[in-house]
Amino acid sequence: MPAGPSANLELFGSLDAPGGAAPGAQTRMGRQAWILRGLALPVTDALLRGVDEVLRQAPLRHMLTPGGRRMSVALTNCGALGWTSDEHGYRYTRTDPLSGNPWPAMPAAFAELARLAAQRAGFAGFEPDACPLNRYEPGSRLSLHQDRNERDMDAPIVSVSLGMAAVFLFGGHARTDPAQRHPLFHGDVAVWGGVDRLRYHGVLPVKDRPHPVLGSRRINFTLRKAG
Ligand code: SIN
Ligand code: FE2
Repeated sequence: MPAGPSANLELFGSLDAPGGAAPGAQTRMGRQAWILRGLALPVTDALLRGVDEVLRQAPLRHMLTPGGRRMSVALTNCGALGWTSDEHGYRYTRTDPLSGNPWPAMPAAFAELARLAAQRAGFAGFEPDACPLNRYEPGSRLSLHQDRNERDMDAPIVSVSLGMAAVFLFGGHARTDPAQRHPLFHGDVAVWGGVDRLRYHGVLPVKDRPHPVLGSRRINFTLRKAG
């Protein structure tokens, strides 16, 4: 049987697995798509300080989709370019529409981890300039979508998960293609690029399994080369 959704959940145990998946393990989602288990664990203190610093300057907010619906994840950005959504569509901007200020600088720990993760996944020389940051609360979800607002499709997406575990959906190139289901735990880093760069992905509604440090929250930030 090919490694499908249930195979993965069996392999790594349930989302309740206290320590998550084995640090150092690698889950292959596609030819150029990986989950690097626990890669962020040695630097979570620096990452969480970075998160606090970003949130202080650019608070989380619930954006509207182009269809006018309020997103269940709360979002902000750091880096030179920030992703925003409103009734006019999705785009990258240099300033935070809430404050008019440039988006907060990308914490050095974010960029360093992103370079390491990209290199491990086969994408040397990754220099991100954008980093949307999402906060999930119990029930928050992200429906299947492609990351396609970035100018540079040669660069991968690097996605860092902190806090509560969630189920990541990794689909194909069409919205209706079947999606793999992979648990993402505190400290896991997913990377997808190359032939897998435009695959549909999303997050199932997050269940309330409080994390020892972050409580009933999941923080995910994705590093990209957008400009
Ligand atoms: C995203 O697709 O931008 C975020 C994915 C996640 O929260 O794991
Ligand atoms: Fe995405």
